[in-house]
Amino acid sequence: TVGLRVRELAIPGARAMEAGLQRQEYRGYDSAGLAVDGDKAGEVEIFRSVGKVKALAEVINNAKINTEKVFDCHAGIAHTRWATHGQPKTVNCHPQRSDPNSEFTVVHNGIITNYREIRELLTSKGFKFESETDTEVIAKFFKYIYDSNKQHNLDFSQLAKLVIIELEGAYGLLIKSIHYQDEVVATRKGSPLLVGVKTEKKLKTDFVDVEFPDTLEELSSVPADANSNINGTANGLLIPKDNLRHSVSRAFMSDEGIPMAAEFFLASDPAAVVEHTKKVLFLEDDDIAHIYDGQLHIHRSSNEVGASTIRSIQTLEMELAEIMKGSFDHFMQKEIFEQPESVINTMRGRVDFETNTITLGGLRSYLTTIRRCRRLIMIACGTSYHSCLATRAIFEELTEIPVSVELASDFLDRRSPVFRDDTVVFVSQSGETADTILALQYCLDRGALTVGIVNSVGSSISRQTHCGVHINAGPEIGVASTKAYTSQYIALVMMALSLSDDSLSKSARRLEIIEGLKNISEQISKVLELNDSIKTMCDETLSDQKSLLLLGRGYQHATALEGALKIKEISYMHSEGVLAGELKHGVLALVDENLPIIVMATRDSLFPKVMSAVQQVVARSGNPIIICNPGDKFDPKYKTLEVPATVDCLQGLLNVIPLQLMSYWLAVRKGIDVDFPRNLAKSVTVE
Ligand code: F6R
Repeated sequence: TVGLRVRELAIPGARAMEAGLQRQEYRGYDSAGLAVDGDKAGEVEIFRSVGKVKALAEVINNAKINTEKVFDCHAGIAHTRWATHGQPKTVNCHPQRSDPNSEFTVVHNGIITNYREIRELLTSKGFKFESETDTEVIAKFFKYIYDSNKQHNLDFSQLAKLVIIELEGAYGLLIKSIHYQDEVVATRKGSPLLVGVKTEKKLKTDFVDVEFPDTLEELSSVPADANSNINGTANGLLIPKDNLRHSVSRAFMSDEGIPMAAEFFLASDPAAVVEHTKKVLFLEDDDIAHIYDGQLHIHRSSNEVGASTIRSIQTLEMELAEIMKGSFDHFMQKEIFEQPESVINTMRGRVDFETNTITLGGLRSYLTTIRRCRRLIMIACGTSYHSCLATRAIFEELTEIPVSVELASDFLDRRSPVFRDDTVVFVSQSGETADTILALQYCLDRGALTVGIVNSVGSSISRQTHCGVHINAGPEIGVASTKAYTSQYIALVMMALSLSDDSLSKSARRLEIIEGLKNISEQISKVLELNDSIKTMCDETLSDQKSLLLLGRGYQHATALEGALKIKEISYMHSEGVLAGELKHGVLALVDENLPIIVMATRDSLFPKVMSAVQQVVARSGNPIIICNPGDKFDPKYKTLEVPATVDCLQGLLNVIPLQLMSYWLAVRKGIDVDFPRNLAKSVTVE
């Protein structure tokens, strides 16, 4: 979601939104749309299109309207969509509108769980729905509440408050209205939303005051005659008697106390605003940001006691160049090749190779508590879950704490017991994955100590956990996670090393691992040299196959699962990661002379057992492709990919790279848009 106030900007408005949207396409990209002020006062133009942002740009270019006006708009809202309710078709694109005049237009990330009840109420009031989305109810509900409260002269944020107290579910919302020309309201609950701030003058302070309205007159958001079907209809707004706008936040006052104009960029992700400003403020749940007259005002939708009254303005460290593709064809390819550097960034300032010590500032004051915990639970989804599986054994070995690894959704489905003396580690690239955030909330409610291992600074998980480690892999744009995986892996290993630095009996093992970390970047570069041969292998032998098996055991089980996930999500080829020991318990039935089987057979204590799995495959005429260490000899009939040897618990960092490259080249060969595979979103902000 992105909304822009752009009058003072040199760049044209809709173009700026288009660029911002493109940077957020990874969150979802089955359709896109935007709403801006129309040619005449009181008019709003909505442009929508199925497909990617480029298709939307064409729709705008082909429209028979004054495009200059559109491109120079004052306040607009825009969205790229990843369908949750209703298919990707134009009528379901955002912005959604309240009525044919578009009195209220809304873009929304998330899901409104009580939309059916609101829809029923509105239908009974004569509203006609045009889409299948949950978002349309919000636009129409705005109009309904506006029409029923005309006599109160509500300002836009007050109106928004009356609406959102009735919404259940998760949302990041931007709203625009012809009744509040040149204003935008933004609010969130459970979905990320930030405000980028650009001013000519230096901001006076690095925070914005949150405004709690004076309370005099009480309104109910759903009028008494409404026969509301909405569950738990709450009492609404307390509006100030004189209904004056609240005082201007100190950040936007000049030294002389004169309000200072600023441009604001609202987005779900810093990547969308970073080219305009690096000053950002992350909204919190229940914040209502109201932008008008070059000013930002943040209100609360609830007047709870003890809530924080300031939102700090942070400076992003992300460079635009960091999120551009450079000389690579795809972000995913760039990110695969960045790994020699990104793993160093993860260790920078944390691993001292001179003294063999690990310092994780974000965990420092919690190490003792974690060491004493009853058990450690790692919770994540997808690739992040695989990084937990990949490091569980070394965690248990070094810390001697029992570790369980959980998929966030399954953990919640089971309502698994959590205790105050548990430590729960949440691993997430985006820090915004809804399932993981819900699991975090669940564990916080039960008093466990929570740790975040997160890439996105300022994300919900990094803010809501007690402590944690940022993996510092840099922005990951490609939908398929690559460099975040290797950096999560290293961050978890560093955490295990740090927790065990008081144990004499583990010191030799720790030294061996730290030595391994020292060489890992160079070894990753070495593995990347396999790029050409992997491309050829994909072109010549793999791309025509329907299915692929990946076998691994011990540390390499996670590699097999991660490789299979990469291959299926990017190349749409069915692939399955199998624990080598399980082969004989059923999977062997799939093996014939056609099915390609990739075996992780690098040297560790389980090597002989993996070799016996290779024998089982070969005995059924199977054709293994073996990932092995240099110098290991196999029957020349079998294809091998040699990767350097490292410590057993780090070997997965190297073995996964040929699989990342394989998924990439298989997808390219099939003509798939690697960075935007069908049906997927980078950041899964819905349950
Ligand atoms: C696969 C992939 C996903 C994510 C999963 C969790 O390449 O990217 O499986 O790993 O959606 O996302 P995060 O790590 O952002 O919580």
